[in-house]
Amino acid sequence: MIMENGLSVSDLAQFETLEQFIIEREANFPHSTGAFSRLLRDLSIAGKVVNRDMRRAGLVDISGTTGEINVQGEVQQKMDALAHQEFVRALRRGGECCLIGSEEHAEAIPLRTNSGDSDGEYIVLLDPLDGSSNIEVNVSVGTIFSIYRLPEEFDEPELDAALQPGVQQVAAGYIVYGSSTMLVYTTGEGVNGFTLDPSIGEFLLSHPDIKIPKKGKQYSINEGNYNSFDSGLKQYIKWMQQNDPDTSRPYSTRYIGSFVADFHRNLLKGGLYIYPSTSKSPDGKLRLMYEANPMALIVEQAGGRASDGRKRILDKMPDRLHQRTPLYIGSDEMVKMAEEFLSGERTR
Ligand code: AHG
Ligand code: MN
Ligand code: MN
Repeated sequence: MIMENGLSVSDLAQFETLEQFIIEREANFPHSTGAFSRLLRDLSIAGKVVNRDMRRAGLVDISGTTGEINVQGEVQQKMDALAHQEFVRALRRGGECCLIGSEEHAEAIPLRTNSGDSDGEYIVLLDPLDGSSNIEVNVSVGTIFSIYRLPEEFDEPELDAALQPGVQQVAAGYIVYGSSTMLVYTTGEGVNGFTLDPSIGEFLLSHPDIKIPKKGKQYSINEGNYNSFDSGLKQYIKWMQQNDPDTSRPYSTRYIGSFVADFHRNLLKGGLYIYPSTSKSPDGKLRLMYEANPMALIVEQAGGRASDGRKRILDKMPDRLHQRTPLYIGSDEMVKMAEEFLSGERTR
């Protein structure tokens, strides 16, 4: 039988589904209860719902702003609010999550209530929709998630339970709503990517064991902010722009303005994404807990590197949920070289 996407049923059978993959991995852990697998399934279901809404964005009344300013001081898009609701709903219904932290919500959201609707043990931190200002112009956007366990010393989920360094994440992932929709995640044993086949509504394993090239030829930064960069960063940018065929320079600039999409391209092709401190945003713009940490775990698992310019992202001890951090993330050699320029160890 030929499906509407032109593939036959036997073509599709070559691909493992996300659900099969999760179940197989779970079987490697003898005492596992299945809770973590259910949590990942809940996140993937919410991703499918957001994907469905996104695919209709120009047609139904879901693009544009809500008229609200979110806790970040940024204009909230209707899809930001909708994606937040879908993920919270899926996690509440699933019962495996006890606490949610979301970019679109000022406080952490505890899911264990008096009515006992959840005794879940996982904490999920979310950027429900990354790059949302790009929706109106039909550019890729994404969802980023970061998963921790509720530490044993906490009987009840509360904000402090979520303030763990990124190195303690048990899993992290993202969904990119692009020319195709992909879910990429790690549980600390490599990185795997799944492409949504819309004709059967399943994520299929299309990118097993992703490795990021050690160096790339592309860098991603909002160069409009150049005048407020550190001198070390300015020198590094000039170095990347110099003509030197032996080292494949000049590099190309690729900046979409959707972190998930820029990160995804660099992960597959090699490259460096930078959101540095600027005079407008001295701590950078991206959020440590639901943008930098999850992508840092993924990039390290793929053989890359993530740093705030001086320090490994995953070792940073957070002091608040919506904390920001400068971010240098991508191919190992490119991030290391950025650190050398920033420390002054290298000037050209
Ligand atoms: P969000 O839409 O979740 O607020 O994130 C936007 C982020 C990120 O996706 C992107 O890389 C960056 O903001 C772009 O910022 P600039 O417009 O300052 O370059
Ligand atoms: Mn974001
Ligand atoms: Mn967002």
